Amino acid sequence: MRMTTLLVALWFGATSLAAVADDAALRDQSTSAGLKPVPYGLQPVSDNPLTREKIELGRMLFFDPRLSASGFISCNSCHNLGTGGDDNMPTSVGHGWQTGPRNSPTVLNAVFNAAQFWDGRAADLKEQAKGPVQAGVEMANTPEAVVVTLNSMPEYVERFGRAFPGEDDPVSFDNMAKAIEAFEVTLVTPNAPFDQWLEGNDGALSDKQKAGLGLFLDKGCAACHSGINFGGQDYYPFGLIKRPGADILPPEDKGRFQVTETASDEYVFRAAPLRNIALTAPYFHSGQIWDLEQAVAVMGTAQLGTELTDEEAATIAEFLRSLTGEQPVVEYPLLPVETAATPKPQL
Ligand code: HEM
Ligand code: HEM
Repeated sequence: MRMTTLLVALWFGATSLAAVADDAALRDQSTSAGLKPVPYGLQPVSDNPLTREKIELGRMLFFDPRLSASGFISCNSCHNLGTGGDDNMPTSVGHGWQTGPRNSPTVLNAVFNAAQFWDGRAADLKEQAKGPVQAGVEMANTPEAVVVTLNSMPEYVERFGRAFPGEDDPVSFDNMAKAIEAFEVTLVTPNAPFDQWLEGNDGALSDKQKAGLGLFLDKGCAACHSGINFGGQDYYPFGLIKRPGADILPPEDKGRFQVTETASDEYVFRAAPLRNIALTAPYFHSGQIWDLEQAVAVMGTAQLGTELTDEEAATIAEFLRSLTGEQPVVEYPLLPVETAATPKPQL
């Protein structure tokens, strides 16, 4: 081998070794900070054994607008599985074209959150699912009317019987919620570029994304955004160091204070999950920020007391785009046809 060829070979060897060492160190730092990949397979949930019949029924209910008083609004209206599991609105539009107070979070990977809603007021997905059906600004229905609707369609009666075998009264509001939870367990997005990288594929992240991950860890973002979902586990004041303006943090929404009625919980919110964040603009519970770089910069100032440079915010945002995983492929269900006993739409 000629000397120059040897030197070139050694140089390339050294740089690729350095790259491997850097990747390995960054991987260790990520794991120590509690960052985890989205697991494959179904996550078990409490008090709700998962069966094919239940998941299939839950898929139908998720897409069925007849769970709403108007017969027009389904879970999918505000958690559109074609657009990242949310509605891309600042705050959701529900019954009678009313605008609700908060932005719709994605249902994708929601099963990995320690509790549901921006303020964590529902312990799990089955408790959560009963909320929107009854909320006046969302589906504006009642549990009794939902049960009448479901019982009016023989196919639903039969499917509830198969999903909840051996029960005396399978067509119930509680079982509606359990079936929806079972379907939501399937709405996970594994194999994001970050996950591939974490599992050893150095090439799955660009250099800029690796730099962004380094900043995400070094600046302290992972102190609140970690675990499988990069958030969704714990609560923090929004404005821990500097409270954002009233446009981003409207004074009337006091967050977790409404749940606990404890003064120290004023303006406390769940650290938002960051999986698939590139698909779920606009950002924050008020949904007022459309630009991911800007949302990152707000976090720097509000939560860390750090004015991130435009370059730093852009680099972190580029890393966050690596959290978009494989989207679940969901077949739109054929729904049972109404009968004369099905309640008419209440517009
Ligand atoms: C929150 C599912 C209907 C708007 C959530 C969450 C889940 C969910 C799992 C919590 C996600 C998280 O905390 O990260 C469902 C299901 C529905 C349904 C299963 C049907 C039964 C709707 C509808 C709307 C809507 C029709 C809009 C009119 C919202 C909003 C939040 C939310 C604004 C956040 C509310 C808050 O934090 O106070 N939904 N949703 N949802 N959903 Fe839905
Ligand atoms: C929300 C990123 C640091 C707590 C968010 C959102 C993003 C983000 C993009 C919006 C998510 C959405 O709308 O779906 C970051 C980055 C950080 C960082 C890149 C580091 C520069 C922190 C820290 C804390 C924290 C250190 C805790 C002290 C929260 C909370 C929310 C949130 C509570 C929800 C705010 C709301 O109610 O709208 N974060 N974050 N974040 N983050 Fe961070």
